[in-house]
Formats: sequence, structure tokens, C-alpha cells
Amino acid sequence: MATVQFFSPPDSIKQLSDSGAFSSVPPLYACRDPDAPSDVDPTLERQIPTIDLSVLTQGDPARRSQMVRQLGRACEEWGFFVVVNHGVPETVREAMLAAAQGFFDLEEEEKAEHSGKHVMDPIRYGTSFNSKVEDIGYWRDYLKVVVHPAFHSPAKPLGFREVLGQYAACTRVVGMKLLRGIWESLELDEGYMNNALDLDACFQVCVANLYPPCPQPELAMGLPPHSDHGLLTLLHQNGVDGLQVKHGSKWVHVKPPPNSFLVNTGDHMEIVTNGRLKSVLHRAVINGRSTRMSIATVVAPSPDTVVEPVAQLVSSERPAMYRGVRYREYLEHQQGNKLREKSALDLLRVQ
Ligand code: OGA
Ligand code: NI
Repeated sequence: MATVQFFSPPDSIKQLSDSGAFSSVPPLYACRDPDAPSDVDPTLERQIPTIDLSVLTQGDPARRSQMVRQLGRACEEWGFFVVVNHGVPETVREAMLAAAQGFFDLEEEEKAEHSGKHVMDPIRYGTSFNSKVEDIGYWRDYLKVVVHPAFHSPAKPLGFREVLGQYAACTRVVGMKLLRGIWESLELDEGYMNNALDLDACFQVCVANLYPPCPQPELAMGLPPHSDHGLLTLLHQNGVDGLQVKHGSKWVHVKPPPNSFLVNTGDHMEIVTNGRLKSVLHRAVINGRSTRMSIATVVAPSPDTVVEPVAQLVSSERPAMYRGVRYREYLEHQQGNKLREKSALDLLRVQ
């Protein structure tokens, strides 16, 4: 293993962490000031909204419309909420985490089959965010797999494909139910939105994130503050916390209740609602003791849709804030550049 002076980025953080060769983080990863005052507000955590999906889909009309309003408020005020009673079996969620662990445990050469290619490749393994353009390294390995409209999967480890197929189908259903509720909360017609965003051919990507223990977690980041590209992102994790969400000027450290999904709004929710709903900034912090794993599923318009603010939310008092863009092009831009706050979205802002 190279010494710090001759440090070159590793194939994976897992390899770096497993080697045990570092008692401090290599300078590439030291992107935080450990003496900066904390920007996390611990009192906000209990205010995170909770959405009961079973009420949203099967509740009696009065409870249902109350839940729709709650969902609308959660999107407007937070851009982030916890979803319970989502109907995805715990066995499917556990199997997905185990399959992802199985993938990260493969030999580096086997994983490398999916690395170092174009950002639009349907299966992509790597470390940090985009090592080609970043001058900072993030303490994270990832596997990104496009699962819809066309389903892809790495062939290894054995059984991965079946588990991913099931997980993708289940989370897509949850995503669509939430989208339906959100359209309703904004008084947008569901059929119209399905057409405008071509949701039958929705783009869906499942991202497995691995955050190995870090010798100096106060200096490095798992993922920097960023927004996601899609409409919604659903996330679940292996029981180790690390997701933080921005609310107002503060950050909230999220401790998800058991059997829940954490859901955040993405850039395309902001574009299509003409800024009525905003994509939320979030980041991932790491720790010195345990490996954290998360599965983030992005649900988005179909790759060929040109997404623009819907006419119903554009008026002379509130002109269109974003110009339309083909989803595929946005994705390529967002994935091909540095991950920095909402810089990808800023590019579409009408001045
Ligand atoms: C992501 C992401 C956060 C986490 O994959 O886009 O924000 O907690 N992940 O892993
Ligand atoms: Ni994200």
C-alpha cells in the first residue's frame, strides 16, 4: 500500500479501509474543518413528517384526503419525509442489502468490469462521486444500476439479479403511489402528469452506497450536500445512520424508524412544479466504527421526456422558472460534473 505522500486514489474505499494501512485519512478526503461549529440542529429530528402509505392508498375518504394534505405539506415544507406501511416486505429490503453487500465483497477485478466508463452506462461501479472531475474524494463506494424502463443487473453475485428485480418493482410501486398523492395535493390531474412525464416508461435507478468505517470521520464526507436528479428518491439503510437533510439553515441527522423508507424530492419535482416544491439538499456523513450501507432508488420521468414546468403552475405572476430539458441530457450533465449543492438545476434557471 502506498504511503500518504505517494497516495493515489484507491480502486475502492472498501479496499482502503480493509487494508488497515491508514490511521488518518489521506489528504484527498479531508474536506471538512473539524473545528467548525456544528450546523446540525438535534431538535428538528422529531419534526420530520411521516406519511402512512396505507392510508394514502386504502384509507377512508376523510383520512385519505387528510394524508394527501399531509404529504403536500411535507413536500412543500421539508422536501423530505418518512414513509411507513409502504407494503414492501422486509424480506425484500433485507435481501437487497445483503445482495449489495455481496456485490461489494466481490474481488476488485470482478467489480471493475463495471467501472471507469461513461456516466450513462446502465451499470456503474465506482468510488467517491465522479473521480474524473472531483478534486475531493468522498468516503463512499457505489453501484448504480438502471432498472427501468429497461432492466439491467450485474451478473454477479449469484442471485443479485432476482433480488434487484423484485426490489425495483416494489419500490417503483411505492414511488408511483407517492407521486399520485403529490399530484393530487397540488390539484394536478394524474392522467395528465403520467402523460407529460411518460411515467409508464419512467426512469428508475437503484444506487447501492457503501460507506466503510473511516479513521477520521470528522474530516471526510460520504457524500457532500447535493440534490438528486429525479422526481423522488426512496432510501433505506442497514441500520447505521448517516443521512442528513437540510431544513431551513440547519441540518437534520435522520434516524429512520424500523421498516421505513426515507423519501426526498428531486430536481425534476422542482422543475415540473415550477418551484412550488423544491428539491432538498442532503448529505451523507460517515463514522469510525461501522460500515454503513444504503440503497437509494430514484424515480424519474422517462429518459426521452422533455420536462418543463406544468402549465397549471405557470402564470403571469409566476412565470416559468426553468427551461425544459430532456431528462437524459439533464442526467448526463448532473452525473458528469461535480456534485455541488444544486448546481445542475441552476443551469436551467430562467434569469
Ligand atoms: C444518494 C444519497 C444518501 C445516503 O445516493 O444520492 O444521497 O444516505 N445517499 O446514502
Ligand atoms: Ni442523494
